[in-house]
Amino acid sequence: MAQVEVVGLAKKFGAVDIIRDLDLRIANGEFVVLVGPSGCGKTTLLRMIAGLEATSAGEIRIGERDVTRLSPRNRDIAMVFQSYALYPHMTAAENMGFSLKLSKVPQAQIDDQVNRAAKMLHINHLLTRKPRELSGGQRQRVAMGRAMVRQPAVYLFDEPLSNLDAQLRTSMRAEIKRMHLEEKQTVIYVTHDQIEAMTLADRIVAMREGRIEQIGAPDDLYNRPATTFVAKFIGSPAMNLLPALVRDGVIAVTGGPSFPLPQAFAHLKGENGREVLLGIRPEAFHLEAGRSDWPSFAITASLIEPCGAEVYVIGDFAGQEVTLRLQPGTAPQRGQTRDFHIDAGAVHLFDARTERSLRNEGDTP
Ligand SMILES: Nc1ncnc2c1ncn2[C@@H]1O[C@H](COP(=O)(O)OP(=O)(O)OP(=O)(O)O)[C@@H](O)[C@H]1O
Ligand SMILES: [Mg+2]
Repeated sequence: MAQVEVVGLAKKFGAVDIIRDLDLRIANGEFVVLVGPSGCGKTTLLRMIAGLEATSAGEIRIGERDVTRLSPRNRDIAMVFQSYALYPHMTAAENMGFSLKLSKVPQAQIDDQVNRAAKMLHINHLLTRKPRELSGGQRQRVAMGRAMVRQPAVYLFDEPLSNLDAQLRTSMRAEIKRMHLEEKQTVIYVTHDQIEAMTLADRIVAMREGRIEQIGAPDDLYNRPATTFVAKFIGSPAMNLLPALVRDGVIAVTGGPSFPLPQAFAHLKGENGREVLLGIRPEAFHLEAGRSDWPSFAITASLIEPCGAEVYVIGDFAGQEVTLRLQPGTAPQRGQTRDFHIDAGAVHLFDARTERSLRNEGDTP
């Protein structure tokens, strides 16, 4: 296990900047998840840390070593990809032990390490099977086992669960979490899955166009997004953002009601006409009063999306489309209008021009 440090890292493909002056410090034993839109450079960053892609500028340190110019096999990392290529003619155990065999590790020791990893991944009973005799999820476990037997300083995962069905994903996710709690490996993990990011990460790194937009605990990114980009990217359905003005100590939603400034934004009291975006998570709408002193307002449901344990209601609020997350049974029918309350403590305000949060730094919601 080791810490990972990336300093001033940059990557160009031709004239195009893919990674731009990126700094990132990952503590020993930390589980860091990279998220961001397709093409923002997540895989490129992982491949640079792995040594599969040369750097255009900057430095990569693993543990105490500068590995920037070392070959992948001298970096003491293991990478698990979305498309895990197992050798078809080898059994699961042979696949898992292959890298150790290449390194001339004695067979008894290989068997030990393979058995240890297999036990952790619950695949002991599958070790003599060939890949074609395994399910997709079992193959993915073998691919993870292959990384684990090497006991690398750092694990790099690039969407390792995205080829699995929903049920397998959920159980593998729990397995990875359990393993990390027990073994405390240093992990850098890329995913598009919000729940994977929120449940696995010690810290989430939100990337945008080759740069880091925000780093923080999952709770930080969810409850204190620094920009509208992070606000919209973290959380599903996405946060609603309504154009508004701050004036005379209130937030005046464009074409809609006005609300008193919540505590976290009290420092904006003197503003007179500042353009802002009012951020409201879908779950911050309530039918019952009593959660805040904010006035209620009418929303007409234009579309209902039942999702089992909850219902997404898409409706019209002051001429803007908003998404609400409600309990089944309480949700309005399509076309119905209801009065809703908002939890004033749960709203966000962003400057409309800079798109940065206006939350008072010292505030904790
Ligand atoms: N070998 C290459 N040559 C030129 N451009 C490349 C190369 N590899 C990646 N790119 C470009 O670099 C950018 C970042 O790609 P990357 O694969 O890192 O994105 P990503 O964040 O992993 O996206 P996704 O979520 O779709 O996997 C993209 O615009 C991609 O087209
Ligand atoms: Mg990728």
